[in-house]
Amino acid sequence: MRYLVTGGCGFIGSHLCTRLLDAGHEVVVIDDLSTGRFENIEAIHQHAGFRLIVGSVLEHDLMDGLVRDCEAVFHLASAVGVKLIMEQPVQTISTIFQGTDVVLKLAARYRKRVLLTSTSEVYGKSENVPFHEDGDRLEGPTSKHRWAYACAKALDEFLALAHWKQSRLPVIVVRLFNTVGPRQSAQYGMVIPNFVRRALANEPISVYGDGQQSRCFCHVADVVEALVALIECPAAHGKVVNVGSTEEITIRGLAERIRTLTKSESEIRTVPYASVFGEGFEDMQRRIPSLDRIGELIGWKPRKSLDDILADCIADVRASAT
Ligand SMILES: NC(=O)c1ccc[n+]([C@@H]2O[C@H](COP(=O)([O-])OP(=O)(O)OC[C@H]3O[C@@H](n4cnc5c(N)ncnc54)[C@H](O)[C@@H]3O)[C@@H](O)[C@H]2O)c1
Repeated sequence: MRYLVTGGCGFIGSHLCTRLLDAGHEVVVIDDLSTGRFENIEAIHQHAGFRLIVGSVLEHDLMDGLVRDCEAVFHLASAVGVKLIMEQPVQTISTIFQGTDVVLKLAARYRKRVLLTSTSEVYGKSENVPFHEDGDRLEGPTSKHRWAYACAKALDEFLALAHWKQSRLPVIVVRLFNTVGPRQSAQYGMVIPNFVRRALANEPISVYGDGQQSRCFCHVADVVEALVALIECPAAHGKVVNVGSTEEITIRGLAERIRTLTKSESEIRTVPYASVFGEGFEDMQRRIPSLDRIGELIGWKPRKSLDDILADCIADVRASAT
């Protein structure tokens, strides 16, 4: 198979590319290298089955040829990370929504399968955990820009499902929960690489709010297995599917665990959200996926525990510092 991977120089995309090449597929990546890095694909860019196009998914004519010439599309290109979203609000919305519009229109023209990566953020402030794909969403007001990411991704989902409804375009929408592992950048506000770097440098670790908000972290290797299986699963067409871990930890607990594992002397500081993201920033308390649907579709569940994830991330940050 020849796959087009948008955002393939990013954290998840680069792991996905390696996995597809290892399975004997051809991979074409389009990436504008905005948050992605060439180093992420350095190990595979000489592979005979791999090609990188540096460009944007917003470039319609370029995308036309790429979608036409592939058999299926993994659409991962997106503005990502709370920090970047708060700092570049216009770009966030246009990259997410217009990029997906281009991909879906071209996929419809050439009748190509598309897997779209959405996010658990679309559940918003709902406290109805575990989150089921067809459950209600609860998002904040449009004056609070944090919700723009969730809304733009939700609009992507509507658009993908509309293509399925209208023309039976084979689309799969994956709602990713926090995904972590080697190569994830700390630069855009990703919590684990950030805490690990701080801990290894014995610098203070900043926990936002009271630190009692919790998250479930899934290893990128597990996530990639789910993506590869879902794009091959006809029963997933026209469906939204959660992908994530159910092992929950508070952010304060995470900071403490990382400090212990790295034998760090870092102080753990609590920092008000407002001092980092401005007045009125809203966060969600808990985010736990229901894995019923993905279990029924492909029998998937994460294999790696939080301790496995942290061990990998610590080794990765240590290696990149040498
Ligand atoms: N990492 C997570 O925890 C997480 C959680 C939920 C959803 N997701 C989704 O998974 C996908 C991949 O995220 P990631 O964590 O690997 O982030 P990432 O920033 O590492 O990857 C995104 C990639 O898209 C590229 N990109 C951005 N705009 C582009 C454009 N206009 N044209 C071409 N390429 C462009 C970036 O350069 C980058 O390589 C995204 O769609 C994201 O919304 C990730």
